[in-house]
Amino acid sequence: MSVIAHLHLSSPFILAPLAGYSDLPFRLLCRHFGAGLCFSEMISCHGLVYEQRKTLAMLASVPAERPVAYQLFGADPAVMAKAADMLNRFSPDLVDINMGCPVKKVTKKGAGAALMAAPDLAAEIIREVVRCSEVPVTVKFRRGVNHRSLTYLDFAKMAEDCGAKALTLHGRTWSQGFTGKADWQCIAEVKKAVSVPVIGNGDVQSHQQAVMRRESSGCDGIMIGRGALGNPWIFGSAGRPQFNAEIAAGALLHLQLMEQYIAVDRFLAAIKNHMGRYFTGLAGSTVIRRRIYQCAGFPELRACLESLASTAES
Ligand SMILES: Cc1cc2nc3c(=O)[nH]c(=O)nc-3n(C[C@H](O)[C@H](O)[C@H](O)COP(=O)(O)O)c2cc1C
Repeated sequence: MSVIAHLHLSSPFILAPLAGYSDLPFRLLCRHFGAGLCFSEMISCHGLVYEQRKTLAMLASVPAERPVAYQLFGADPAVMAKAADMLNRFSPDLVDINMGCPVKKVTKKGAGAALMAAPDLAAEIIREVVRCSEVPVTVKFRRGVNHRSLTYLDFAKMAEDCGAKALTLHGRTWSQGFTGKADWQCIAEVKKAVSVPVIGNGDVQSHQQAVMRRESSGCDGIMIGRGALGNPWIFGSAGRPQFNAEIAAGALLHLQLMEQYIAVDRFLAAIKNHMGRYFTGLAGSTVIRRRIYQCAGFPELRACLESLASTAES
């Protein structure tokens, strides 16, 4: 049991917010395989305030998902405040603020990791979201702007002072994007420097590694992003199954959740991308992935996964 921002979590291992991936079906799947908490994809404060259909669709949740954690992004404190107020209607368990996304589309508007270069504005945003949210607010940030500006300790203390109830630190700088290796020393330092729970993030590729990172950094939680794609078993101690049929059964469960909760015909390409990831690195994966990518529609894709899941072990 782990306590993050007053939430009692069944596990300290947490699914990262992943734009384009951490939708409701994937979050439910990760919860099924043992994740203690799953963050939504980043949600634009402007999209929310203007009630854009696509943005509102990102708020879909079901009771089985709880705890529900929505992540907001934006650079205007007033709009972020309004968005936080609107989120109250959707009864989340917590609201996270994205201060780590390095993608140009986000940073050129001053949001995401660009807020690491504007700590006063970041502080104002955190204070405003905390003021308007009825639930605990958390902040996800990076090690700094670049190697010459490693501001994580000041940023963490600022976020805590502004009312954040937990902090997630991705051990890379803004300028690193997703290159190089995540630094976990900074995560251990932040854990020692603040009194709110700290979640460490960056490059965790297996359950054993997650356990080891938690022990060595002293963190309260470990957030896993890319390592969970095609491998939701990463959240459980048994780890990824050995046999293709078991892996196909997991992929099929994912597919069934997608069928239940999203318009599968509209998202076939994205679904195939998700499915292909399950088989990366397995014996016969090239052939399996080709079969997946050649499926012309969702029923054919489902039949393909069903046949893989029922195949005697190869
Ligand atoms: C495809 C993709 C989408 C992402 N979307 C988000 C996002 O919406 N919000 C966010 O804070 N971080 C986002 N991230 C960053 C991850 O949450 C995480 O911090 C990063 O991938 C490092 O963790 P990992 O090595 O376990 O993947 C994204 C990363 C990837 C690869």
